[in-house]
Amino acid sequence: MDGSSAGPAGAVGLLRSAFAPGAPDSPQGPYLPLALLREIAPVLHDEELDTRFLTGFADCQAVLSGPAFAVPDGDWLRRERPEWAARPAAEFFYASLLGTNGAAHERLRAPLTAAFGPRRVAELSAGVEKTVEELLDRFADATSDGGAADFQEIVGYPLPVAVVGELIGVPRADRERFHRLGRDAARLLEPVRSDEDWHRADAAVTVLREYFAALLRERRARPTGDLASALLAQAGADRHPGVDRHPGAESPPDGGRHRAGARQPLGEGELADLLLLVFVAGFETTAGLLGTAVHTLLTHPGQAALLRADPGLLPGAVEEVLRWDGPVLMTERLALRPVGVGGVTVPAGGSVTAVLGAANRDPDRYPDPDAFLVHRTGVRVLSFGAGPHYCFGAALARLEGALLLGRLLERFPRLAPAGEPVRRSSACLRSFDVLPLAATG
Ligand code: HEM
Repeated sequence: MDGSSAGPAGAVGLLRSAFAPGAPDSPQGPYLPLALLREIAPVLHDEELDTRFLTGFADCQAVLSGPAFAVPDGDWLRRERPEWAARPAAEFFYASLLGTNGAAHERLRAPLTAAFGPRRVAELSAGVEKTVEELLDRFADATSDGGAADFQEIVGYPLPVAVVGELIGVPRADRERFHRLGRDAARLLEPVRSDEDWHRADAAVTVLREYFAALLRERRARPTGDLASALLAQAGADRHPGVDRHPGAESPPDGGRHRAGARQPLGEGELADLLLLVFVAGFETTAGLLGTAVHTLLTHPGQAALLRADPGLLPGAVEEVLRWDGPVLMTERLALRPVGVGGVTVPAGGSVTAVLGAANRDPDRYPDPDAFLVHRTGVRVLSFGAGPHYCFGAALARLEGALLLGRLLERFPRLAPAGEPVRRSSACLRSFDVLPLAATG
């Protein structure tokens, strides 16, 4: 079989029903059509979108980790989508971590991993706990009359905005404005972007670039302990090799292919763009995880009871939420040369889309994959991707999830859904815009 096969009749229909934004909002979400698709066409060429959708765990992992695939980058942009190339948002995205490969990607990623290691995540933990407590106080106030309040508005969004703001060094007073701008810029993470998405993303990227450039100037004059200051120090160290690197830096689970040797230090515009990418990638995804985690536990009261009885299960429960309904449903790669995937040959330049959410429910990988079980063992999710682009903030997101769930279940023993949640309108991001809950229901 070659890469041009459209798969069995009906398969594309299943695909469409799985990815229609918000449409398959049944308890199974997009997962029922995706499971059927995995059975009949685990590699399905969608000719209209011209990409091959992969729904098996092993195929997705191989594509993300293997050397035969790359993300669409600046060359691809100029060749395939020249009409986008002059847009500030496109120029930013296709020169960012998520739009570069090989040495160019390594050059951007190495200073980040050097500046933000496990030690820094541990240092942020006390601040995350404090923010969780403050936001849950607000949630308690908002529901103290026995009525409902929107969990996402009060906790689900503000928590990751505060945490990523704290990480980067964004002052508290600026965070509300950041929330709005970040949402507009995050439209770039959608696989298909409308004119309206581009328009909003262009405007947000332009403002945020200026903001981060000013923040870096400020930190150059007065360094603090934040990521902006650490990246400036790192760029300085790269200009003067021999100065100590941050010890204990986190490397992606790819055997350390990213550890850069000699490299050209990043300029200030590149550092500003790096902060912007961390910001954009870091909060909508985590807000998605937090809302989904809470909603899933409330709709699986038996599992919530297990967690209340044994908080030691919390990290595993967060992993299970990531597996069962993770925030990022899919991600695209291009073949660098003709390559076989799941029995299909993908031609050089051919597009494949790893459906992470389907991979995480592959019965070949997980027994009883559709059951949500907080004590499931052996969970290794693809929700943060794999290989060179493995999520830079995975440890931080996991920390936020475990700390929030632990305190929420402890403080609100009678927490309950209190109205219809509203899903984010997105083909890729699994998240709630609105999640009404009552604390005394
Ligand atoms: C539950 C929350 C999160 C999820 C599900 C998530 C998911 C992902 C995924 C799937 C990728 C890889 C995309 C690809 O391979 O095409 C990724 C990359 C990335 N994530 Fe996250 N993410 C989360 C939270 C965060 C946070 C909190 C931060 C920042 C503090 C962050 C920063 C990044 C960055 C910078 C990249 C690009 C890495 C690279 O290309 O080298 N993410 N994330």
